Amino acid sequence: MTVSQWDATVLTLFPQMFPGPLASSLAGKSLNQGVWTLKTLDIRDFASDKHRTVDDTPLGGGVGMVLKPDVVAAALAHVGDVPGPRIYLTPRGRVLDQQTVRDLAEQPGAVFLCGRYEGVDQRVIDETDMMEISIGDYILSGGEPAAMIVMDAVVRLLPGVMGKEEGHRDESFETGLLEHAQYTQPRVWQGIEAPAVLASGHHQKIAEWRLAEAKRETRERRVDLWEQYLQTQQTQKTEK
Ligand code: ADE
Repeated sequence: MTVSQWDATVLTLFPQMFPGPLASSLAGKSLNQGVWTLKTLDIRDFASDKHRTVDDTPLGGGVGMVLKPDVVAAALAHVGDVPGPRIYLTPRGRVLDQQTVRDLAEQPGAVFLCGRYEGVDQRVIDETDMMEISIGDYILSGGEPAAMIVMDAVVRLLPGVMGKEEGHRDESFETGLLEHAQYTQPRVWQGIEAPAVLASGHHQKIAEWRLAEAKRETRERRVDLWEQYLQTQQTQKTEK
């Protein structure tokens, strides 16, 4: 029997959205194997009136509806003290990166709060010391797809989820660089040749080519990452 390595709990108004895409591929296989677990709670079950009201108009006016702090607090109280961070998915949060994903994968699990409408009353977010995470500078109609993206990124790092052949040592962001481009057979496709060095069988040369390409592509595609990379290299040099 597999012992679960990571337990996710999701608070949502749309529990039927889960596991959704997480039922397929690596995430789905490892979910079936019990490497990780996924529980959903319907926020509406924690409404206290007979109409099961979960939201109200924004104080100060404005469009949309805001999830009520008492309802969200009741849902969080029901979850109890399961270990791991409480994460609120919001475009106002810190933008997710691979370091945050690695940190989350070190935890025994996480509780995700998915907002809808205009968001969640900030008092409950602050009072329960939630991490606020955004998956990028664009607006989704709710936090659910964002929670799925965080879970997907975390789950693939759990021990036993990815085989050796899918190793994640050199891939984009693990080294601070974008990954080099990849090629497969046929070596000539529609008259276009794959880089000759890759078929040379010369491991050292291949590794050098890949690193040089990773650097060139990062410099050309993502100046922000490139500058960060240079800075890290510089810091490591002065520390030596
Ligand atoms: N909810 C709506 N948009 C979002 C985003 N970009 N990231 C996380 N949660 C969200």
